[in-house]
Parts: sequence; C-alpha cells; structure tokens
Amino acid sequence: MRAAVMHEPHKPLVVEELEIESPHTGEVVVRIAASGVCRSDLHAIEGESPVSIPPLVLGHEGAGIVEEVGPGVTGLVRGDAVVIALYGPCGTCNDCRAGDITNCWSETRTHNMYGRMPDGATRLSLGGTPIAPMCGSGSLAELSVVREAQLVKIDPDIPLDLACLAGCGVTTGIGAALNIAKVEPGSVAAVVGCGGVGLNVIQGTRIAGATRIIACDTQQTKLDLASDLGATDCVRVEPGESISERIKALVPGGVDYAFEVVGHTPLVSEAFDSARTGGTTVMVGAPPPGTQVTIDSRTLFSDRKLLGCLGGGNIPARDIPRIMRHYQQGTLNLEKLVETRIPLERVNEAFDALRKGETVRTVVQP
Ligand SMILES: NC(=O)c1ccc[n+]([C@@H]2O[C@H](COP(=O)([O-])OP(=O)(O)OC[C@H]3O[C@@H](n4cnc5c(N)ncnc54)[C@H](O)[C@@H]3O)[C@@H](O)[C@H]2O)c1
Ligand SMILES: [Zn+2]
Ligand SMILES: [Zn+2]
Repeated sequence: MRAAVMHEPHKPLVVEELEIESPHTGEVVVRIAASGVCRSDLHAIEGESPVSIPPLVLGHEGAGIVEEVGPGVTGLVRGDAVVIALYGPCGTCNDCRAGDITNCWSETRTHNMYGRMPDGATRLSLGGTPIAPMCGSGSLAELSVVREAQLVKIDPDIPLDLACLAGCGVTTGIGAALNIAKVEPGSVAAVVGCGGVGLNVIQGTRIAGATRIIACDTQQTKLDLASDLGATDCVRVEPGESISERIKALVPGGVDYAFEVVGHTPLVSEAFDSARTGGTTVMVGAPPPGTQVTIDSRTLFSDRKLLGCLGGGNIPARDIPRIMRHYQQGTLNLEKLVETRIPLERVNEAFDALRKGETVRTVVQP
C-alpha cells in the first residue's frame, strides 16, 4: 500500500509502497478515504514534534472505511465508516476505569503517541525497516492499522472528506472551547490564529453561546472565514504587533476567554494579557519543545488561569459523535474549512500551502 513517508526532517515526503501486516487482536485496517493536513504534521517535518520520530507515515486527521477487523474486535465490521481519533484511551488503566479518559497515560497510550501498538511494534515496514504511523494514525496513506479504541463509527451519509477533520482540527478546536475553557453563554472570547484549528475554536465558542468573538490573524482571508463562522469582530494584525492592546481597545477590561492557536509562545503571552481578571487563557497551539512562555507573575496572581489543551480534552466516543450531530444540524460548518482536495502523489503541495498560510485545510484523498 502507498503512504507518504517522512524519512528525515526538513525534506519533502516520499510516497512509496509499504508492507502492511494483518491486524492483530483488537486492531482494524482502515482504507483511508480522506486525510486533512494539520500544522502539527508540518511541525513534524520541521523537527519540532517530540513524538514524531522518523521514519514516519504522517497524517493524523483521517477518515475511511473499515477494510478488515482483527480478532476480538467487537464494535466494527468491514464496510463501516470511521473517523480515526487523535489518541485512543487504553480503556483498562485506573484513569480510564474511573472515567478520566483524557488523563490515560498508560503504556498503550504513550506507545500510541509515538505511533506504536501496545506491544511496542508497528504494523508497517519498508524493506524490513519498521515505519511508525504518526499518533497511531498515519492517515496520509491508502491503509492504516488502528486500535479499535481509536476509531469512532459515523453515519455513512456524512462525506468522509469533511468527517476526517474531526480526527484533529475540529475536535481540538471545539474541545478547547467546550471541554477545556468551558465557555459560558453570553461571554466574550478572543481567538489568536484562525487556521484549521482556530476557526473551530471560533465555532466552539459560538456553539457554547459566546456573544462576542474577536478573531485575530495576519491574513485577511482567514478573518473573512472567521466572520462567516461566527466571529463578531475581526482584527488584522501585523507579525510582532501587540495583539493584547488591539483586543483591549475593543474590550477595555479584557476578554473572558483568550485562545492562542498559532503555536508561537509570544502570542501565548499576548493572549494571556488579553484576558480579564479572573479570565481563562488556553494555549491550543503547539510551540516547539524547550520554548518558554513569559507572563507577568502579578497578572497570574490576579486570579487568571492559563490552561494547556491536548487534543481539546477530546474523549473520542463522546466528542466525535457530538461534532457529527452539530454538522448534521447545521450548527457546525465543515465545508468552509476545506479549500483544496488533492491525491496522495501531490501531498507535498499541502505543506507548501500550509507554510504560505494560503489554505485552511488541504484534504488528501488517497
Ligand atoms: N493542542 C493540540 O492538541 C493541537 C492539535 C492540533 C493542532 N495544534 C497546533 O495548533 C496550531 C495551529 O494549527 P493549525 O493547523 O490551525 O495551523 P494553521 O497554519 O492552519 O493556522 C495558523 C493560523 O495562525 C495565523 N498566524 C500566523 N502568525 C500569526 C500571528 N503572528 N498573529 C496572528 N495569527 C497568526 C495564520 O495566518 C493561520 O491562519 C499549531 O501549532 C498546531 O500544531 C495543537
Ligand atoms: Zn493536528
Ligand atoms: Zn487508560
């Protein structure tokens, strides 16, 4: 089967033929219909993702059709439409059994982040060399072998080239608003960075009932989309400009919720400085490891909260069906998030577009 492989950072991906094993117990082979390309894939190519160690099949925003189920798979059959979630819980550790699924740090989940199965191995190889699938997904490929716990069955009527976005960008963005910040009705929010994830933070804050949503981005095209998806105010910023001053010119006391969705630590500080006393800031972006967020300690002292956000606190079995219902009821727009659809051979074009900031999501259709 063909897959887009990262052999080393800073180099284009190579589409090549990999060997794939049959699914082991509890595993499922998915024929990928569509995979979004997220900035976290680009962070991996740029050598800034600590869990993405080459050789690696990139992609972690996939949807497809179940091709084959391994022994012990009880919830899926061949032909089911599925979304591959970003991380699946192990289901058996104390945290999972207590219902605290997002805090599962069992060996199974840790292996999963590095693209390994619970036995520490991968089911993909190239000429005898094991190749890991990014986050246990590796969706920039024709096929993926995934643990059943990482798959969520969806209504077959939902187009897979839209459903795939629920693998990462949509769940992370919506979850940042609903699960992490717990945005309250009538509140005021600011979102710094309106790309594939940030536009979903905007949609999440709108769904939660925020009545004022301030979108900030360097690109007018992103702000136009933000406005279509629920932003009430759009602030076009220049790189390096003080975003907190621009936001506070609109909301003098600061906003109830501020989100950084770029992955740049000075912007985390700017978002934090935009929040009011008692307000909440969520760092959704993934800055490079080792970088430091600088905040004035007295501003934290005044009852402000700064929160992290791994995958939007997403519990796949709860959050992906919730997202699909919002899509089907018209409260969540997925169509506007996909600008370009390309075959696997052209996968590197998706990264060029992401670097230039031209598109929200390019969807690759293997
Ligand atoms: N927390 C998580 O689990 C999680 C999940 C997915 C993605 N991420 C991270 O979220 C970040 C965003 O991902 P994405 O896929 O939306 O990326 P993206 O490239 O689609 O969007 C980034 C946006 O930020 C804007 N931007 C760039 N510089 C800016 C500046 N100085 N001020 C304001 N806006 C600016 C760009 O124009 C673009 O619209 C990345 O760091 C990604 O790795 C985190
Ligand atoms: Zn992602
Ligand atoms: Zn667990």
